[in-house]
Amino acid sequence: MDAVKLVEVGARDGLQNESRVLPAAVRAALINRLVEAGLTHIEAGSFVSPRWVPQMADTDEVLRQLVQRTGVTYSVLVPNSQGMAAAVASGCREVAVFAAASEAFSLRNINCTIEESLARFAPVIDKANAEGIAVRGYVSCVLGCPYTGRVAPQQVVAVSKRLYEMGCQEISLGDTIGAGTPGAVKQLVSACAVELPLASLAVHFHDTWGMAVANCLAALDAGVRTFDSSVSGLGGCPYSPGATGNVATEELVYLFSGLGLNTGVDLASLIQAGGYIDEQLGRTTSSRVARAWRAK
Ligand code: HMG
Ligand code: MG
Repeated sequence: MDAVKLVEVGARDGLQNESRVLPAAVRAALINRLVEAGLTHIEAGSFVSPRWVPQMADTDEVLRQLVQRTGVTYSVLVPNSQGMAAAVASGCREVAVFAAASEAFSLRNINCTIEESLARFAPVIDKANAEGIAVRGYVSCVLGCPYTGRVAPQQVVAVSKRLYEMGCQEISLGDTIGAGTPGAVKQLVSACAVELPLASLAVHFHDTWGMAVANCLAALDAGVRTFDSSVSGLGGCPYSPGATGNVATEELVYLFSGLGLNTGVDLASLIQAGGYIDEQLGRTTSSRVARAWRAK
């Protein structure tokens, strides 16, 4: 059976946007449940300023409480060398830097221009490459910016190419505001694939306008095989007002299994993990698959 790679971002992208700040033990318990469900690529948190994103404080403590299992990789977001030092000290084997295709978003999110951010990432990526730590590069606002609207695909291609050439092995294309549609996704992936290997591309769709599943299918058709998603559809971005969570992992597991593509994930266990975190947050799931499963 052909396989797709799911990158579970709920414990980072999801929880960073929840008003309730959860203790490290609960965040780790969620991730350990996700491992039990079969997820193998999991973002565990961020080494960013706790003043900017208090929800991600104590990421080092989260990492200490995770089960270690062959074939399971935990990654963390790092915005600069200070974050990278913390990631290395915690024994991380994968990190992610995060740039944007929109200047306005870059300034709001990481307090510097795109060019300044790339200069900050250079030593981080070099360090990762030197230590054999995998490094992913995010590009936000690939299908629109919350502050300035339209973003030209060529701008996305330019930033993605820079990150790839600097040494990021994987580039995750983020529809931060969740406004993209399948046609735009196909155009964007085709434009990126001219400059970058298709196998290095991942897609990261928020579901604000309800298009995220359709967008994943469009990306699959365009040759992408790596998909970011969030258990129970948790999430958003603190610097993208009104944006909702990522596409729910439950939706992707259901979608891909219907297409005969292996995700390695057990849907029932995944839905249980989603139930756990929803209870901790006092929220109801955003996953329609989880709702339908429970109702059957
Ligand atoms: P700054 O204020 O410009 O940084 O923030 P600074 O270097 O001037 O330092 C200011 C203070 O922050 C200092 O502390 C530093 O020590 C501390 P003070 O002396 O004032 O007590 N600091 C740090 N502390 C912990 N870890 C660090 C760190 N660096 C500095 N790594 C900075 C710049 C990047 C730090 C800040 O803007 C920040 O932390 N931003 C976080 C942004 C973030 O996490 N956003 C959400 C993730 S991105 C996202 O969600 C999009 C994505 O999902 C894709 C998509 O959907 O599009 C990935
Ligand atoms: Mg995101």
